[in-house]
Amino acid sequence: MVQDLNDRAADVGGRILLLDRPLANKQASILSQLSDVVCLAIKSAGWEESEWPAYILGFISDPHSEEELQWALHQSRLVLELRHQNLQLTYRLENEKSHAKELLESALELTSERNLPTLCEKILSRLRKLAQAEGASLFLVDAGKNQLRFKHVQNEVVPVEWKEISLDINAESIVGYTTLSGEFLHLPDVYNLDAKLPCRFNQSFDERTGYRTKALLSIPLKKLDGDVVGVVQLINSKTSQDFSERDIETARGLSSHIAVAIETALLYSNIENLFEGFIHASVSAIESRDPTTSGHSERVAVLTVGLAQAVHDSNQAKFKNIRFGARELKEIRYASLLHDFGKIGVPEAVLVKQKKLYVHELRELEHRFKILELSHPERRGEWQKIWKQILEANEPTVLVEEVKHDLAGWVNREVELLDEKLVILKPEEFERLSVKKGSLSLEERKQIESHVTHSFKFLERIPWTKDLQRIPEIAVGHHERIDGTGYPHGLKGEEIPIESQIMAVADVFDALTAKDRPYKRAVPIEKALEILAMDAKDFKLSHELVQLFQEQRLFELLKSSS
Ligand SMILES: [Fe+2]
Ligand SMILES: [Fe+2]
Repeated sequence: MVQDLNDRAADVGGRILLLDRPLANKQASILSQLSDVVCLAIKSAGWEESEWPAYILGFISDPHSEEELQWALHQSRLVLELRHQNLQLTYRLENEKSHAKELLESALELTSERNLPTLCEKILSRLRKLAQAEGASLFLVDAGKNQLRFKHVQNEVVPVEWKEISLDINAESIVGYTTLSGEFLHLPDVYNLDAKLPCRFNQSFDERTGYRTKALLSIPLKKLDGDVVGVVQLINSKTSQDFSERDIETARGLSSHIAVAIETALLYSNIENLFEGFIHASVSAIESRDPTTSGHSERVAVLTVGLAQAVHDSNQAKFKNIRFGARELKEIRYASLLHDFGKIGVPEAVLVKQKKLYVHELRELEHRFKILELSHPERRGEWQKIWKQILEANEPTVLVEEVKHDLAGWVNREVELLDEKLVILKPEEFERLSVKKGSLSLEERKQIESHVTHSFKFLERIPWTKDLQRIPEIAVGHHERIDGTGYPHGLKGEEIPIESQIMAVADVFDALTAKDRPYKRAVPIEKALEILAMDAKDFKLSHELVQLFQEQRLFELLKSSS
């Protein structure tokens, strides 16, 4: 009998179950979830009609009565139809909900992306997914040149090779016409365009790749003020011959969000360019005060970023938890470019001082010894010996004790000159010449060292965005040393930010190998690496960082960047 009913119910796409007794709870619950099964019960099977279980649609008294069977079939068909419609509606509703959700997510994702190349890629991926398109391309308007710049293309059917090119904006191309008219173009077949349109389809891509473009949506990306910032073209629907109304509405709905996203990304990149320009101008301002260190900041930036990247890529236990993404690398680069900016606060004479005496002091002494020779020619040999010792002591090499001792004997000694008395060597001159090694006195060395504090104070006053707020902290640590003998804070080991430790290696290497410091000769690379290794052994620089710098031959980065 049930089989008979099922045969007759097949045309409504369901099954009928005729029960002669109540079902166990588990069976009833399974049954209630099957939308294509309708349950009827035989009345005489012992249930109270007033307490029908929910899974029973109705009762029949006599399963052999054709009249009752007809009624049962009719009711079942109605219920099955309603259930079917309900299911379809639920499915469409779910589909619309997830489409709306994806649309919203796309708008949010695109408007928060600041990097223009990434944004271009995301725009095409999102639009293609939402509108079910096989391919897509993106053009941006270069208003200054009245041109369109081809920025990105995707096609999942044929591989595409492309490069950025510019094309003039005119109504002959579909993209040019869309830009000029600001109108949305829906072209069901690009090989069969409306004769009234001024534009024609460019077949070169199809001819080159064998691809067949058919349906095309050309979407102007309009800002709120109506200006077109670019055009997106969607090519061929993946699901049918042409794009559906919903595809078109989706693309249209998202286009203004895309225009805003592009405008923001362009603005962001302009600000970045402006900022980069400012940094480079600042760096050249510092380096123009001390031409002997020209290019130092740029080189240190290249080496520091290279070493940071190597740390990021390293599997070594020491670096296992240190990761630098694009944001961190940018922060490190800016900190490196500006690390010596504080030299702006150090007197220029100290900054460029190459010997122990300032140039004007040496000239004054030279003049004095000429006068001595003229006024007391009988002691000429003596004057010449002192002058020679002064020149020797003036060099930044290690001072010979004997010379120092000899010169000490002439301090404040006077010689008669007409009615005046002439001091042979002033105490302050002797003090400068007595510097044991290098050209700087303790006071002058402190002035030079103060450049890190000046860098910090200057960088701290810049309202950095959250992404870049550690720049002052990273820059100020580039003269700290692992054993605590560095400056300005004498930090030790892990107290020194890892970025500053990395910069210290780069800074020392460049100071050693720079070819433009007249007071010292450039050290060959192999020798510089040895000195770095010694500094690491003496706990000045990080041993692991120096090792990584050597192993990866990161110093070669300077060759490729110059
Ligand atoms: Fe420095
Ligand atoms: Fe430096």
